[in-house]
Amino acid sequence: MTKVFYEQPDGVEKVVDGVVGESVMSTAVKNGVRGIVGQCGGVLSCATCHVFLATDELSNFDPPSEDEDEMLDCAATDREDNSRLSCQLQLRDGVDVHVTIPAEQL
Ligand code: FES
Repeated sequence: MTKVFYEQPDGVEKVVDGVVGESVMSTAVKNGVRGIVGQCGGVLSCATCHVFLATDELSNFDPPSEDEDEMLDCAATDREDNSRLSCQLQLRDGVDVHVTIPAEQL
C-alpha cells in the first residue's frame, strides 16, 4: 500500500491510493490529476509528466538516468534540483510520495 500526494500550484492537494509497481505518472492519469499528461506513455520522450518531488523523498528513488536528465531540460517549466519525470518514479510498498505539479503544465 502506498499513497501519492499531488499538490497543484495553488496548494490544492489530491491524495490517491497507488499500486505498487506503477508509476507516479500513470497513477495521476488514471485518477484524473490535472497537469500530468504523460503524452508519451512513459518512454521519456515528452516531459509532460514533470513534477517537483519532495526534497526529503529524493533519496527514496534512484537518481535520474541520463535520458531522464536530458528530457528534463525540455520540460515546459524550468527544472529545479528536485525535478523528476513522474513516469520514472515507480511506487513501492509503504513508501508514500509527495509531488508538486509545475504551474506551466496546467
Ligand atoms: Fe513522457 Fe514521462 S510520460 S516523459
